[in-house]
Amino acid sequence: MAVAKKFEKLVILGTGGTIAGQASTAQDDVGYVAGALSVQDVLTSVPGVQAILGSVQLISEQVAQLDSKDMDAHTWQALALRVRHWAAEPGVGAILITHGTDTLEETAWFLAQTCGVACPVVMVSAMRPASALSPDGPQNLRDALVVALDPRSQGVMAVCAGAVHAARHVRKAHPYRLDAFSSGETGVQAWVEAGQVRWQHAPDTTTGTAMSLSTPQPWPWVEVMTSHALAHAGSVDALVAAGVRGLVVAATGNGTVHTQWVEALQRAQAQGVTVWISTRCEQGQVVRPASDVCAWGTYTDLPPLKARISLMLSLMH
Ligand code: SIN
Repeated sequence: MAVAKKFEKLVILGTGGTIAGQASTAQDDVGYVAGALSVQDVLTSVPGVQAILGSVQLISEQVAQLDSKDMDAHTWQALALRVRHWAAEPGVGAILITHGTDTLEETAWFLAQTCGVACPVVMVSAMRPASALSPDGPQNLRDALVVALDPRSQGVMAVCAGAVHAARHVRKAHPYRLDAFSSGETGVQAWVEAGQVRWQHAPDTTTGTAMSLSTPQPWPWVEVMTSHALAHAGSVDALVAAGVRGLVVAATGNGTVHTQWVEALQRAQAQGVTVWISTRCEQGQVVRPASDVCAWGTYTDLPPLKARISLMLSLMH
């Protein structure tokens, strides 16, 4: 395998997830504790790591040990700062992050917006706990190492079930299957096959700018609201009254909302709440009208959960 010259060290940051999960029996694939094992324990379970690494030194660090459903601003801040720290160390050529699958797409997008690092950041996860009869974590980790070492890798990526997804497009699409992630109509960035990366698209180089993350917490409160049948204006008003700073509307179809919400969203805007319009459709993005204006919000091309992060960051800065 061709290892790029910049590589002397590869850093793996642990945050928990099912890849570090442990159940009481090997038969239990669902009733486990996520993030029970350290990143060092997870690495120990992967055969042949040194053969993949060659002369590259592997440095591991535990940043957090949680179930990613509970991801919080402190962990995101710490993670982004550790990524920047290690990326600035001489000889570090890539950073791997072990992470739960449940909010991986959000952390990937957050890092893609805030890191501003030149080296690839590869997120790796698993759908079965480390204690399972046939865990997927070790293979995913091997594949992620291969991707991290590939001289063509760039930006923030997610590796799972032999597929490489860009932060912009990755989405958890299945609650149980091993190939739980999808990049939708864009398709995967690459496949990892028997230790080789087969690229489908040029890597997405986005790692954002190294923006200040020292904003006091809590960070601006932004909610996603999904427009649906029988929508109630009271839900918008209640969030505004409670102090929400931004709303991302996961609108129906091509950016429409229930009539019940239109006036409530206009009232929200008049009170200083920023409203962005995305779509609840899984594929594509809102095709904007020629005027590109909407009385109750601003269109975004991002899916709702990623738009929520971008809006929060824009309110922070
Ligand atoms: C988590 O997201 O931390 C738990 C679920 C998983 O990793 O699949």
